[in-house]
Amino acid sequence: LARGVREPDLAGRHVVVSAGGTREPLDPVRFLGNRSSGKQGYALARTAAARGARVTLVAANASMPDPAGVDVVRVGTAVELREAMLRAAADADAVVMAAAVADFRPATYATGKIKKKDDQDPAPIALVRNPDILAEISTARARSGQVVVGFAAETDDVLANGRAKLKRKGCDLLVVNEVGERKTFGSEENEAVVLGADGSETPVAHGPKEALADTVWDLVAARLE
Ligand code: CTP
Ligand code: CA
Repeated sequence: LARGVREPDLAGRHVVVSAGGTREPLDPVRFLGNRSSGKQGYALARTAAARGARVTLVAANASMPDPAGVDVVRVGTAVELREAMLRAAADADAVVMAAAVADFRPATYATGKIKKKDDQDPAPIALVRNPDILAEISTARARSGQVVVGFAAETDDVLANGRAKLKRKGCDLLVVNEVGERKTFGSEENEAVVLGADGSETPVAHGPKEALADTVWDLVAARLE
């Protein structure tokens, strides 16, 4: 094979990847959101397609064009993301949750724009929890032997928090990266360690998001029968 051309080791497989970050609306013009660009999820989708997989990319508010040869489902909120992921995961060999899901959403949605009132303090915003999509997909295992992968961005005690999170979510692999003010968000590069439910630990050196994506697919491929 020519350099840069991968063995189609995911041919005949259906993989589902979520990307981007959910936005939870307060009113028609405002939302609670996060800084996820979607680049890592898009890199996962592109590399899986290059390795022969049928790919469904569930994109939450990402502004990038659809990758060639990938089925893209666009969503806004965590609840919409859950719907789309459960539907796509039903016949998937692997599911990768690279999207940043808002943990909470506003308890109420104002159908008209919220207005400020003279001489009044703003009302606090009540929040409710969003469903945990990764935990739900890990528990359900829509298909036997399905490999489920999560991502975690941590600022402190990265490995210990990652191990605990892997267990809590019940996924097979958890890609843990350290984030901070200037790290990862919107950047072209990433650095991570991939924790396995089998106790494995795979460090991924600082480099392009495609390299991390390929390592994830290597680990997924090894776990598919
Ligand atoms: N995730 C999810 N549904 C949620 C929250 C998170 O599917 N409601 C997924 C993310 O897509 C990611 C993984 O779970 O793959 C870990 O997300 P993270 O925010 O690190 O985990 P939380 O359980 O929300 O923990 P924390 O309190 O640290 O935010
Ligand atoms: Ca969270």
